[in-house]
Amino acid sequence: MLVKHTTGNRRIIIAIDGPAASGKSTTARKVAGMLGYTYIDTGAMFRSVTLKVLDLGMIDTVRSFPDSIEALLQDLSITFCDDRVFLDGRDVTSAIRENRVSREVSFISSLGPVRQRLRLMQQDMGRLKGVVMDGRDIGTVVFPDAELKIFLIADARERAARRYAELAAKGASGSELPDVGMLEREIVERDRADAERALAPLKKHPDAIEIDTSELSIDEQVTMVRDLALALLRREG
Ligand code: CDP
Repeated sequence: MLVKHTTGNRRIIIAIDGPAASGKSTTARKVAGMLGYTYIDTGAMFRSVTLKVLDLGMIDTVRSFPDSIEALLQDLSITFCDDRVFLDGRDVTSAIRENRVSREVSFISSLGPVRQRLRLMQQDMGRLKGVVMDGRDIGTVVFPDAELKIFLIADARERAARRYAELAAKGASGSELPDVGMLEREIVERDRADAERALAPLKKHPDAIEIDTSELSIDEQVTMVRDLALALLRREG
């Protein structure tokens, strides 16, 4: 049974950042459900832009001329509805999780026009508060004043094993399902690219609470984040 926790009218922003496959999206979605908040998966937004570039056959052009991405951002629409992601009106929920998207997303996410466009969309989505938003720069750049900031980390091998299970459960095969060792290398490389980029790099805000999920079950990490949120709401409510 799902119990929604009521804590008066005060609503906060919960920012959950961390490296690839650290359990951010599962945690954020479940905590949002428990609090009656809206979950916003900002990684899905960067993945959607990446998918758009790939599907238009523009990846090499954008690599050679990064500014060429601006035209594509002009008529960009990304919306969330019932746990599904829509890019320009098309349901891309599965397509954005494919490994071909994961391989290019750090590059696309490093581009200034992309970050600026998505940051404005994200700030607009959170303006009424009552949101749980996960990503890489939510606590540092998008909502530095978020009342609760969480930084989730986990051992790279454990994260690769989780990602393998996720892709396999979706029926991926062939080049879309590399072995765990290859996935671990790809994840470590993506973390490096995300942490070393000039714009909005992945880093922990000094106020963020770090949780290592390597040895935690999903239920345990969800409970920890939910309890932190409830304690904050009771204290300040
Ligand atoms: O699910 P996973 O942890 O693999 O990644 P994600 O949250 O879907 O994010 C995919 C990629 O988008 C990241 O590797 C970053 O390059 C980028 N991203 C970002 O730059 N800023 C965010 N706020 C969220 C994602």
